[in-house]
Amino acid sequence: MTGRIIGITGPTVTVDLADLKLYDRLKVGHGGLQGEVVRLASDHAVVQVYEETKGLGVGEPAQPLGVPLSVRLGPGLMGQVYDGLQRPLPLMGEKFGPFIRPGCELPSLPEDSTWLFTPLKKAGDRIEAGGALGFVRENSFDHYIFAQTGGVISTIALGEINLQTPVATLEDTTLLHPAHDWPIRTPRPFRRKLPPTSPLITGQRVLDFFFPLSLGGTAIIPGGFGTGKTILEQAIAKHAAVDVVVYVGCGERGNEMAEMLEEFASLNDPWSGRPLAERTIMVANTSNMSVAAREASIYTAVSMAEYYRDMGCHVLLLADSISRWAEALREVSSALEEMPGEEGYPTYLASRLSGYFSRAGVVETINGKMGSLSMILSVSPPGGDFTEPTTQACLRASGAFYMLDTSLAHRRHFPAINWVQSYSLYAEDVDKHFSEAVSPAWATLKQKGLALLQKEEKLREVSEIVGAEELQDEDHLLLHTAGELRDRFLCQNSFSDDGFSTPEQTVRLMDLIVRQYEEATTRLAQGEELSVLLKEMQ
Ligand SMILES: Nc1ncnc2c1ncn2[C@@H]1O[C@H](COP(=O)(O)OP(=O)(O)OP(=O)(O)O)[C@@H](O)[C@H]1O
Ligand SMILES: [Mg+2]
Repeated sequence: MTGRIIGITGPTVTVDLADLKLYDRLKVGHGGLQGEVVRLASDHAVVQVYEETKGLGVGEPAQPLGVPLSVRLGPGLMGQVYDGLQRPLPLMGEKFGPFIRPGCELPSLPEDSTWLFTPLKKAGDRIEAGGALGFVRENSFDHYIFAQTGGVISTIALGEINLQTPVATLEDTTLLHPAHDWPIRTPRPFRRKLPPTSPLITGQRVLDFFFPLSLGGTAIIPGGFGTGKTILEQAIAKHAAVDVVVYVGCGERGNEMAEMLEEFASLNDPWSGRPLAERTIMVANTSNMSVAAREASIYTAVSMAEYYRDMGCHVLLLADSISRWAEALREVSSALEEMPGEEGYPTYLASRLSGYFSRAGVVETINGKMGSLSMILSVSPPGGDFTEPTTQACLRASGAFYMLDTSLAHRRHFPAINWVQSYSLYAEDVDKHFSEAVSPAWATLKQKGLALLQKEEKLREVSEIVGAEELQDEDHLLLHTAGELRDRFLCQNSFSDDGFSTPEQTVRLMDLIVRQYEEATTRLAQGEELSVLLKEMQ
């Protein structure tokens, strides 16, 4: 059944096909551009096209594929750099040159690679859908091969396999392959969700100590132009204590992504010492690439992240920036002539976003393992206005809020995280963990640190009114200490060795600053000179 294009509006085309399903995949035009059904009527359907529609004409063919837009999951995924439609970018570059023409395609996984398969089941065993048949070694960890259909196993492979070889046969003759397709808009199943209580260590002192994220938690980093969203996302991608990182460059500058790829190729994971590329998957749908594919890119990424979660891994998904995804959604919605909501965004923006955030969490997998999927998404509110719809919708759906402050960024205080407005709903549980695992003084030091910063704020207000000369000696001591806290603890230059801090180093530094302050306060009360004490604290 081949249809015809009967209309084109921006990134959407109308085709004269009935009998389709919502979110079915299609190839449209002579070039075979990829698209997905987003609206159905009795005698036609509207297709969101993920590639540039320029040059497409009415009357050109439309070929339904009968399957929803999917991601290919299997060995060989790790370390790849994909576009929003999971096309392997480096290979595409080699084959088709630097500019990908619409309709170009290559397999997402390396079809010719071989893998050593270790079975976990034997002939005669029963397996349920989603159960682990065995594993292959992918870099430093075991990549589990899941059965797509349940049944009784009649044969199972051992030793070398490739992606074409079935790993097992069921008694009803069903062949089970090492790779499978998963519809990107459908969350992958699990047994049950567990509470997110263990920390996700980012290596950023201000986050880990004051606003900690938990494994399975969600955080947003909203910030105006140039406040450090990209650098912070990249720093966390390099340093986070997780098994797998999926990084989505969504509608941001291509050169930033290229630089990141180059940098990642030569760096090691600070926790395992192994190359970063061995734990990272990149999805690049930068500003110079198709706008509509941006909409798909974040779903492609989250499905890959869930796949590794299902193997019992701790996975972190980073996206820069979710606002560009929301803008793509708005563009498609306006081409569909839907009723616009606030600022032209579709009325379902908030529900789509909360649906997306709900794919994060700690889960007991179908195989009884514990895996987690955490998310840190940057948000780029136009004009730095946090009341705009995307920021607000993200705010309601996420558990931690890392607000980037333009005035801090102007003063080159990086990461420019505002310590008054930011918050984390995971802090209580995670602090308990840090107090047990890292330092019993963790929670007390945190309170003392926050109290110092709050008192500093008040003192500055007072000194603006009455003048700095009216401040007492102990006030000067406090201002000095708060300055130390800002410069040495809260600031962390990503381009220096200080760009990464373990929780042990973090709490040691806080302890040092607080202890110096408390000792100096005692000595001041005993009559020692302020100038002498300040000098010693330098
Ligand atoms: N953690 C950091 N350490 C050192 N410098 C930083 C840090 N974060 C940001 N900067 C400085 O700020 C500049 C802007 O940062 P970045 O590109 O991450 O901002 P952005 O919020 O992503 O900007 P845009 O809104 O344009 O996407 C960087 O080029 C760098 O000079
Ligand atoms: Mg940026």
